[in-house]
Amino acid sequence: MPSAIVTGATGITGSAVVHHLCKDPEYRKIYSLSRSSPGDKSPKIQHATVDLQSSAEGMAKELQGVEAEYVFFCAYLARDDPAEATRVNAAMLKNFIQALEKTGAIGRLKRFVLTAGFKHYGVHLGQCKQPLQEDDPLLEAKTSGDSWPQIFYYEQERILSAAAAKKGWEWVVTLPEDVLGYARGNFMNEASALGLYCAVSKVLPGSELPYPGCKANYFAFNCWTSANLHAKFCLWAATAPKAGNNIFNVMNGDTESFQNLWPRLAQRFGCKVPNPMFPGGGVPDSPGFKNYEATTVRMSNPHPLKEHEDTIGVKAEGSPTLFLQVDPEKWAKRSDVNEAWGKLRDKYGLDQKAWEKATWDFLTFVLGRDWSCVGTMSKARKLGWTGYADTWEELEETFEVLEREGVLPPVEKLKKDF
Ligand SMILES: NC(=O)c1ccc[n+]([C@@H]2O[C@H](COP(=O)([O-])OP(=O)(O)OC[C@H]3O[C@@H](n4cnc5c(N)ncnc54)[C@H](OP(=O)(O)O)[C@@H]3O)[C@@H](O)[C@H]2O)c1
Repeated sequence: MPSAIVTGATGITGSAVVHHLCKDPEYRKIYSLSRSSPGDKSPKIQHATVDLQSSAEGMAKELQGVEAEYVFFCAYLARDDPAEATRVNAAMLKNFIQALEKTGAIGRLKRFVLTAGFKHYGVHLGQCKQPLQEDDPLLEAKTSGDSWPQIFYYEQERILSAAAAKKGWEWVVTLPEDVLGYARGNFMNEASALGLYCAVSKVLPGSELPYPGCKANYFAFNCWTSANLHAKFCLWAATAPKAGNNIFNVMNGDTESFQNLWPRLAQRFGCKVPNPMFPGGGVPDSPGFKNYEATTVRMSNPHPLKEHEDTIGVKAEGSPTLFLQVDPEKWAKRSDVNEAWGKLRDKYGLDQKAWEKATWDFLTFVLGRDWSCVGTMSKARKLGWTGYADTWEELEETFEVLEREGVLPPVEKLKKDF
């Protein structure tokens, strides 16, 4: 029976991988690694406190006796500067692999699964060619001869494939889209911010739920990745016969849009869908436009689609612009909004940190872009992957976890009380 090592065991993707390994009778032992303790109770789990930013030599001392056939690398450190994100995250991966070489654990390794993400395609930089496919060219040198901001996954992917080729084990890289899940103490996730926006809107006079983003975004198509589904995918990819040495998109398998999700969110939280949702057509300065807390963000780089101009025969005009009729960051600073949050916090004993650390800027990007963001699951499906999750159901399940964790109010009580 094999064992597994999970780095980033306290994170959103890593904790889900640990959870699913625990449930899988095929796995005998799970080494969970992170700086803080995940507090898992399963007898299958052995936790090791490891700082992946330390040297390979230092880490090797902490990793004595930690060996497994499968590694799931879900550790991640967010950095705003792309070069710094590359330096930090590449070093963590490289030093960790070297530490396994030093302890000799690498000799037992069969497959190493690295969690990366859709930033691999440059989705954070603007509109990409869609659907996103694993064999799309990397976004490195620009056709202009210039270069794109560094994408840290590329360096991680190179480190991993080079180490695997040298030592004879296999690698897999997963590319999840925005992850629906939760890790204790980590409030930086889309579902928390969305849920807080909805719950506080319920308390505000009129309980209306204006869509923060732009009209084009409301009608655009997107996909999401359930942390649980991603974890199941990682377990599948670790042993599926032909999955080794491959990079895979990992999404729920449905395609969603806010024109479909927003009315459901409104209903769940007892809010009203404003009609019109986009007064004045959602166009600033047009008659009827309602300036809730609008914002326009102009990015300086071109759209990644530019790299595909010659192939698709269409010019990628202009630079990415985000428009929001309600800027979530400004909204979260409003005094009436903070007063409403305070009422919820006090009534239901919610965690103040959830409000302070909510990732409003993440919503700004995800709801403000006027293009779709969709990938294809064809590659994994052709190799036998059949997993699927319903995005709305996953979102609801995540809200329920957030309620239990004191991040969101219990929704049935919220609807009765306000
Ligand atoms: N969350 C999303 O929506 C999303 C979407 C697409 C892709 N991804 C990608 O998925 C990957 C994993 O992200 P995530 O969201 O799961 O991250 P996360 O929730 O922020 O968790 C990061 C994990 O890394 C650990 N870690 C950080 N620094 C460490 C260090 N120096 N030594 C040891 N452990 C360290 C943290 O534990 P300690 O702090 O306890 O050490 C934590 O367990 C990243 O590449 C991310 O870009 C995430």
